[in-house]
Amino acid sequence: MTKPNLFSGMQPSAGSLHLGNYLGALVNWTKMQDDYNAFYCVVDLHAITVAQDPAELRKNTRVTAAQYLAAGIDHNKSALFVQSHVPAHAQLAWVLMTITGFGEAGRMTQFKDKSQKAGSDSTSVGLFTYPILQAADILLYQPKAVPVGEDQRQHIELTRDLAARFNSRFGETFEIPEVVILKETAKIYDLQNPEAKMSKSGDPKGLVNIMDDSDSIMKKIKSAVTDTDGVIKFDREAKPGVSNLLGIHSAISGESIDALVSHFDGKGYGDLKTEVGEVVLSVIEPIRTRANELLADPAELDRLLIKGANKAQELAEVTLATVYERVGFIAPAR
Ligand code: TRP
Repeated sequence: MTKPNLFSGMQPSAGSLHLGNYLGALVNWTKMQDDYNAFYCVVDLHAITVAQDPAELRKNTRVTAAQYLAAGIDHNKSALFVQSHVPAHAQLAWVLMTITGFGEAGRMTQFKDKSQKAGSDSTSVGLFTYPILQAADILLYQPKAVPVGEDQRQHIELTRDLAARFNSRFGETFEIPEVVILKETAKIYDLQNPEAKMSKSGDPKGLVNIMDDSDSIMKKIKSAVTDTDGVIKFDREAKPGVSNLLGIHSAISGESIDALVSHFDGKGYGDLKTEVGEVVLSVIEPIRTRANELLADPAELDRLLIKGANKAQELAEVTLATVYERVGFIAPAR
């Protein structure tokens, strides 16, 4: 039996993934590789919708890919590739733009937030059409499942609407993909501000990056904000700092929160932090080491990415050719 397809994408927008990316998305992506024919795409076309330094973008694209491979995306099972290597993404995006309403695109909340912050003169048209490019990414691969965080739900809804609209106007062409929202249980909070999700735009001291050295990771975990009652128990409202530490431990060790609470019975916050630090380093160190090995040999890394792009391209071209034919373009002479 052939496996259903799966598509997801990640921005090459930082020099390192953080613990929240790893536990929230990446762990799930590696698990899903066995049940799906997975396409994982580093979306560099999306990255340039906000200003990028070219050298930085190139570097971040490789670092992002290296971390995904290091964390267990298997290039023999899944296609891990760079979006700009497969021209069909931009080509399908153009066609989909012509069936997207201006108002419809204007209702995307992520666009509204980002453009409000930037102001209209520094908001590019590319930022406006970002979700349509995202729809093209997905629809090229006829996936059944698109695993994303809750913040991407509206973009996947748009993708489904555009697929259904194209199908009804031009005939059945696209699979209507299902959104798979990644589990909230693996939600990781900022160590300094444990009411907010861990994020690269938060306090750097509250952020655990995979590529950071072990000493500074340990230091950040040991300085995590807790509270003054001295009791180790799980209560997101009253004890967000301690609960976050327990949550991180549990997400990595697989121990239940209850088991951890009895394990730490009679111990202090110092013990909790030291053990959480050790558990975190036990998963991060091998990933960082492997990622650095991959980055030390960029020719080999690029070869793996081209292998992924070739696999992606094969399917993307078939879908694009069908779309071009359906909308009435003359097939180019070969
Ligand atoms: N917009 C997504 C994000 O910021 C990244 C992305 C681009 C994506 N294309 C995609 C995610 C297609 C899923 C499917 O996280």
